[in-house]
Amino acid sequence: MQKVVLLCGSPRPEGNTAQIIGECARIIRDSGLEAEVISFADKQIQSCIACYKCKGTGSCVLDDGVNEMIDSIRSAQGLIVASPVYFGTARGDVMSALQRIGMVSRSNDGFLAGLVGGPIAIARRGGHTATIQEMLMFYLINEMIVPGSTYWNIVFGLAPGEVWKDDEGIATIRIFAGNVADLIRKLN
Ligand SMILES: Cc1cc2nc3c(=O)[nH]c(=O)nc-3n(C[C@H](O)[C@H](O)[C@H](O)COP(=O)(O)O)c2cc1C
Repeated sequence: MQKVVLLCGSPRPEGNTAQIIGECARIIRDSGLEAEVISFADKQIQSCIACYKCKGTGSCVLDDGVNEMIDSIRSAQGLIVASPVYFGTARGDVMSALQRIGMVSRSNDGFLAGLVGGPIAIARRGGHTATIQEMLMFYLINEMIVPGSTYWNIVFGLAPGEVWKDDEGIATIRIFAGNVADLIRKLN
């Protein structure tokens, strides 16, 4: 079965990012695809140390969960990444993971190329679009395919669960997740 990996970049296991990723996973499964959610809540992701040892080996020398993410992504056709907004940008752990995943892909077989997906940003008040743009750099340099929605993939919320009050945000990410599933089916 075709699979979408969903990275949930928040340290709060039941937070807004987790709830939005859960909704995306539900839409993906309802569309007939497998959804594998990977949470950052139990991980501390280190930044790339530029050792370049991933070249030829296909994995990262750092042992903190990123290699397990890579293993899952290798057998997927889609990759969705959601991050909370921290001071107007994506959470540091999220960008650290994306930079390392991207480096392993680019230094080896380019396993990210052709994957369908995109970023989602969750915040109380501001910084969503800068966060989306920051995360898009990972998608676009790795030959990934990013479908749109009826708005950018941004949702508002602070206390866990507050995102469900943002009707337009929820509708936007539902359409986005549906478009990811549709495009994967069309391409495969
Ligand atoms: C360190 C830190 C920085 C934050 N910076 C912003 C920000 O720049 N803009 C904003 O609207 N919310 C900001 N927030 C609020 C979070 O984005 C918001 O609580 C979001 O719901 C977090 O998602 P979570 O529930 O998955 O953790 C910040 C929170 C933290 C902990």
